[in-house]
Amino acid sequence: MVSPPARQDHARSLREAFSLYPTGVVALAASIGGERVGMAVNSFTSVSLDPALVAVSAARTSRTWPRLSAAPELGMSVLADHHGDLSRRLASREGDRFAGHRWTDTPGGALLLEGAALWLSCRPHSRFDGGDHEIALYEIVDVEVFSQVRPLVFHQSQYRAIEHPEQPARTAAAS
Ligand SMILES: Cc1cc2nc3c(=O)[nH]c(=O)nc-3n(C[C@H](O)[C@H](O)[C@H](O)COP(=O)(O)O)c2cc1C
Repeated sequence: MVSPPARQDHARSLREAFSLYPTGVVALAASIGGERVGMAVNSFTSVSLDPALVAVSAARTSRTWPRLSAAPELGMSVLADHHGDLSRRLASREGDRFAGHRWTDTPGGALLLEGAALWLSCRPHSRFDGGDHEIALYEIVDVEVFSQVRPLVFHQSQYRAIEHPEQPARTAAAS
């Protein structure tokens, strides 16, 4: 049997290993009972074209996920390279997660963050066991693309920006 400290070391090493895979960062957000609720995830992935499905996985320890997953419509905003601070806020346990940032809401209650590279309005489709996470599939009901916006990249627990030689980064993504 693996002792608790060994298990913690194992989880830490695995988290470090997973962090070598670069991802974007997506804000999941909805207006629930008049309150703005949101969290940052990097587990977002595209899944299917027909039907149009995406997946996210949420920690079973998350206090925000049970509320978001109950929302009939969820906004998914692919954060931009200048959204490092917003990502940190959306992961914070204290304070207003939306402070200093603008959003727009859909009639269905999805919240979409201004300045993002992509907006998806989604409805819950199905959920699966993912160990200490829950895997949730969402069906896309609306898409808005901002192809000039460069996405935030999360790699080795740092926020990074994609460099285009002919177009320098707008602002360095804070780590
Ligand atoms: C870049 C980044 C990516 C994250 N990705 C995920 C994720 O994929 N799944 C998840 O459950 N939490 C993820 N988190 C953590 C959540 O945003 C949040 O911190 C966590 O849910 C704690 O708050 P809560 O208890 O209110 O949910 C991520 C945080 C950051 C900063």
